[in-house]
Amino acid sequence: SDEACQERIVAARTKLGSEAVILCHHYQRADVYRHADLTGDSLKLARLAAQTDARYIVFCGVHFMAEVADILSKPQQVAILPDLSAGCSMADMADLPKVTRAWRELGEVLGDDPEQTYTPVTYINSAADLKAFCGQHGGIVCTSTNAPQIVDWALKERPKLLFFPDQHLGRWTGYKRGIALEKMKVWDPDLPYGGLTPEAIRDAEILLWKGHCSVHQMFTPQQIDRWKAKYPDGFVIAHPECSLEVCLKSDYVGSTEFIQKTIREAPRGTKWLVGTELNLVSRLAEEMAAEEKVVHFMGGVVCMCSTMQRIDPQHLAWTLANLANGVVVNRIQVPESVAHWARVALDRMLAVG
Ligand code: 13P
Ligand code: SF4
Repeated sequence: SDEACQERIVAARTKLGSEAVILCHHYQRADVYRHADLTGDSLKLARLAAQTDARYIVFCGVHFMAEVADILSKPQQVAILPDLSAGCSMADMADLPKVTRAWRELGEVLGDDPEQTYTPVTYINSAADLKAFCGQHGGIVCTSTNAPQIVDWALKERPKLLFFPDQHLGRWTGYKRGIALEKMKVWDPDLPYGGLTPEAIRDAEILLWKGHCSVHQMFTPQQIDRWKAKYPDGFVIAHPECSLEVCLKSDYVGSTEFIQKTIREAPRGTKWLVGTELNLVSRLAEEMAAEEKVVHFMGGVVCMCSTMQRIDPQHLAWTLANLANGVVVNRIQVPESVAHWARVALDRMLAVG
């Protein structure tokens, strides 16, 4: 039963003591999130993974997050993902063969090494080998929190950016940095030369990989308009993975940690419409009811991250029970040849601040 499962988690944790730390992303379901030692957005969790001394880092989140934990932790530490099928569909939209091909095609158009002109920037929602590609080519990783500073850094290095895999985060960040919308072009990895003419490529300052988050692309400006008509004094807050149109209509745009902090610290009685994953919004709605704050979900339909949802109490109990018996299951281990260059790109990001 559910209750027995919760008890098994608690029992295994007690046995493990400080040997294991449970890191939870804000999108984790409530019956898992309650077991978190530490919570955060991608950036905060990456920093926490780099700082912990626990032997086992049990990551309740998605695959790329556990990879980052493995890359940034010490060699003797073990990163674990309770369900190996918890991926990120956006991260899967930019694979290394397609990125390598794009890089070669850019070189052909320029008649030069693209590294002279472009800084490759990958959102942390990407596979370790893509982070390694960025590390090897003078590039960097960014998250939803630090994207503006990272884009500034990247544009100081070289005049242009190749940004992947999320076109929306790239476009919003470029826009906030004063890059004209027509200077940002979408690179479709399924077409030769991204589906762009050589002139279009040369004219663009930022090439935006054609990737997106299937959860955040469901939110629309019409949902905001309808809500604002009902609650004219309410505030709209959205994640930068939403479309530009949604971000433009929002009062605040930021990471999951930022969304949580902003709503928690808002005055009593305020009303909020939130454009991000349902688990986080439901938790905030429940928590904020005590302060008479109204927290509504932007989606007309239920938008959940199905892969985040795969980490359930059953998988967590099974993982912890094995660890408590000295058996390591579902380890995420990035080969050192990849981890080395991915770490270069991640360390550049952490140094920017
Ligand atoms: P945050 O870094 O803002 O938590 O975002 C991660 C993510 O996957 C959002 O969809
Ligand atoms: Fe990936 Fe979107 Fe899920 Fe975030 S919400 S982990 S970007 S699929």
